[in-house]
Amino acid sequence: MRELIARLVCWMSLAAVVAFAGLFAFLHNRPVPAAASGAAPLPAVAARAAPVPPPANGDRGRAVYERENCATCHSLGGEGNPRRPLDGVGVRRSGAELREWITGTGAAASSLSASVTRRKRAYLELSEADLGALSDYLAAPRTGK
Ligand code: HEC
Repeated sequence: MRELIARLVCWMSLAAVVAFAGLFAFLHNRPVPAAASGAAPLPAVAARAAPVPPPANGDRGRAVYERENCATCHSLGGEGNPRRPLDGVGVRRSGAELREWITGTGAAASSLSASVTRRKRAYLELSEADLGALSDYLAAPRTGK
């Protein structure tokens, strides 16, 4: 009789553990209804989980950088004019500052020579999209070019 009770207790506790594990797994893997979770948290979680994506604009920015001959005065990743490297400039400067330095306007204007300012002012002709892409390109983390 004692043996029977012991066996019963043993099986019941085993069943309880399995049941709890199943319940736990179910509760934690349930798809969260969009309305209950709110729209914002889901993309935020997805963004945190994904590796930092290169800015989609990067390739376009690089094309503009090359087309506008920025490398005659600047270098990136050791390519171009080594006198004024732009590596890491996107970390030091905000997007707005980058635009001022690219176009020789705002605070940047007072630090640039007249001839450089004239050359950079020509970049005011660049489209908004090109300027944005350039800033993104300069702000992108990179080891080489
Ligand atoms: C005629 C030469 C010349 C050209 C062409 C030129 N720049 Fe510059 N740029 C300078 C000079 C001079 C500075 C001042 C800072 C320095 O000496 O590093 C500067 C500064 C900058 C800065 C700020 C650098 C810093 O260290 O804070 C950025 C960003 C920049 N330029 C981007 C560009 C981009 C992008 C282009 C092409 C669209 C370009 N520049 C074309 C001469 C030039």
